Amino acid sequence: MTLHCKTKVYSVLVFVAGCVALLSTTHTAVSQESPSRDKLIVETLLRLQRYDVSANEKWKAAIGRHLLTIKGTPRYLELIKVFEIRDTIPDLLELAISSSMETIGVNAASLLLDFKQSALLQKEMYGEDKTRALAITQSISLGGHPGRFVVLKPLVTDARASRQIRNVAIKGVGTTKQGQQYLLDLLSSGRIPEELMFVTGTALFASSDPVIVKSAKELITPPTTVNATPLPPVNELIRLLGDPVSGKVVFDKKGTCIKCHKIGEAGKEIGPSLTEIGSKLSKEAMFVSILDPSAGVSHNYETYGIVLGSGNVLSGILVSRSDEEVVIRNAEGIDRVVAVAEIDEIIKTDVSLMPADLHKVMTVQELVNVVAYLTQLKKPTTEN
Ligand code: HEC
Repeated sequence: MTLHCKTKVYSVLVFVAGCVALLSTTHTAVSQESPSRDKLIVETLLRLQRYDVSANEKWKAAIGRHLLTIKGTPRYLELIKVFEIRDTIPDLLELAISSSMETIGVNAASLLLDFKQSALLQKEMYGEDKTRALAITQSISLGGHPGRFVVLKPLVTDARASRQIRNVAIKGVGTTKQGQQYLLDLLSSGRIPEELMFVTGTALFASSDPVIVKSAKELITPPTTVNATPLPPVNELIRLLGDPVSGKVVFDKKGTCIKCHKIGEAGKEIGPSLTEIGSKLSKEAMFVSILDPSAGVSHNYETYGIVLGSGNVLSGILVSRSDEEVVIRNAEGIDRVVAVAEIDEIIKTDVSLMPADLHKVMTVQELVNVVAYLTQLKKPTTEN
């Protein structure tokens, strides 16, 4: 027992001595820089809990070099956080934008909030580049950072912001208690526009606070299905059991989904192919895609309006666009080729070409069945 203790004390002493030697090699800087040494320095600092490295250029440099070797990994973010390496802020921003739907991007955005970078984030959220703006809003919204409410809040009521970005902001705000209260206040003063009602309801009905759910139910009239039955909120729909076999029948017939979507070889290509949709979207996201199609229009499937010199307007998905002509596909799947010379203006709209009232032709059970069917459509797995 004593022996064991002594050995332990001894080895701790040796370890500390080793660390001190490693961390104080001011004179050997020329010869010893190497990735493995950098890594060792980082590990030693962590073990000694020396997190404040601001005063030591050598340690900072070693951490900086080590970070470059693990860029984009979870460990990268972890180390930036503990050592507070603020030089990486521009990198974190790019990561949050390029991987906005992935854990790494979402965590990068949270780290930017930890570093009090709201101004930088908001500059992107309101920037000219709408794709970046949407992506950064997404990564903030998907994360659990307590600071997200304050950053996202202004977008909720910003009439100049796109419907998609406001949708995403409401989703993020709606996962905080404070945000739910805020959305309720907006609702009761009539400041949630109709087009944002679905996402607002989805957020509030999913609240863990029964008082909020009750108030929301008093303020929001749910959409109705075929026999005027009110549609349950998304958080209830996802718990209902569906039958995929009947779901396929609804997809092909009553739901008219096949008129716009391909599954394997069947169907038309007006919307994206749904052959592997079960690997892409969660059940919840599928219900939202069907019930509120304009909430998040898939990339490349935005609806365009083409105003012709004659005054006519065509609307649909852009199939191709060159200097001479534009091909636009309407909701019936008919392609029109238009000479650029005939076109006055091309406008990208906020509204999906997918009809927003498909639930009106289905019962609740039929809707649940369609989703059960889609959930099954997965990427083939490689192992057999
Ligand atoms: C008039 C054409 C049309 C019909 C009918 C239609 N959709 Fe769509 N759908 C689209 C278009 C266009 C998009 C892409 C734009 C968007 O995301 O809203 C889309 C997107 C989707 C998505 C999201 C796909 C993704 O990759 O994110 C799902 C899921 C979906 N539809 C399911 C359905 C189901 C189920 C039905 C039938 C109940 C249906 N659609 C009927 C045109 C249609």
